[in-house]
Amino acid sequence: MIELKNVRKSFGKKEAQVEALRGVTLTVREGEMAAVMGKSGSGKSTLLNILGGMMSMDSGTYSYQGQPVDFRSQKELARFRRDEVGFVVQYFALAEDLNIFQNVALPLKYQGRPRKEIREMVTRTLEGLGIADKAKAYPYELSGGQQQRAAIARAIVKEPQLILADEPTGALDEATGEEVQEIFHQLNETGKTILIVTHDAKVAGHCQRIIHMKDGLVQDDGLIPDGGTVQDGRSERDGRPRQDNRPAKKSMAAPPITGGKPI
Ligand SMILES: Nc1ncnc2c1ncn2[C@@H]1O[C@H](COP(=O)(O)OP(=O)(O)OP(=O)(O)O)[C@@H](O)[C@H]1O
Ligand SMILES: [Mg+2]
Repeated sequence: MIELKNVRKSFGKKEAQVEALRGVTLTVREGEMAAVMGKSGSGKSTLLNILGGMMSMDSGTYSYQGQPVDFRSQKELARFRRDEVGFVVQYFALAEDLNIFQNVALPLKYQGRPRKEIREMVTRTLEGLGIADKAKAYPYELSGGQQQRAAIARAIVKEPQLILADEPTGALDEATGEEVQEIFHQLNETGKTILIVTHDAKVAGHCQRIIHMKDGLVQDDGLIPDGGTVQDGRSERDGRPRQDNRPAKKSMAAPPITGGKPI
């Protein structure tokens, strides 16, 4: 689904230049859930921004579902961001002057969908994430966990196949972080492809694959080829990844997020 070849990206000029990505080659298959880990400054956010069409690359190629993503065309990039990708960041980035319903409705407005459809899709998504009662509230009236749910709602309401999350649990306490992690898990079970940047080994332990970055390169890619050992349980106690390559079955009680219909 995603194929990056030899992707390079640097910032700044001449002696002040920083090479954020130094030739990243990476394949992500449809339906995968992978963690992206690595030290601060290793290029994780840069990688995610390029994957989400939010940042151009200096050289290399990016193909999405078999089609090259054309970074020279602003129009094509805008369409790609609008239709294909849901992006979640650490500090939620909700618009403070819009209520939760309006925040979540924004991506659908950009797509030009009719009002009735927008209302239905937003309501369904908020219900699925357990924050329907906050539709009329403003972001500052919500807890961190609720704000992150709203941000996730905004990212998934248009039903993108690819969900990119940059430290989505970084600003949350442990229990709330786990709830948010569980939401990503359930989305993955509905077939979404998910990449999560995280510093948290526990979060990574819930993923099927860990992409380790170091100094702008994918250093170690914990991809288990087809036929890898499938184990029960979603993660091991020591925080190591599950050793299978397929979405895990749900093993924990959690609030339903689909409200009867698949997200
Ligand atoms: N807009 C920018 N302008 C200049 N330098 C940048 C910019 N964005 C990133 N960099 C540099 O590129 C390198 C990679 O940054 P990136 O944000 O991708 O790291 P990261 O792995 O996400 O780190 P963290 O874990 O701290 O979020 C760093 O050296 C950073 O300073
Ligand atoms: Mg980052």
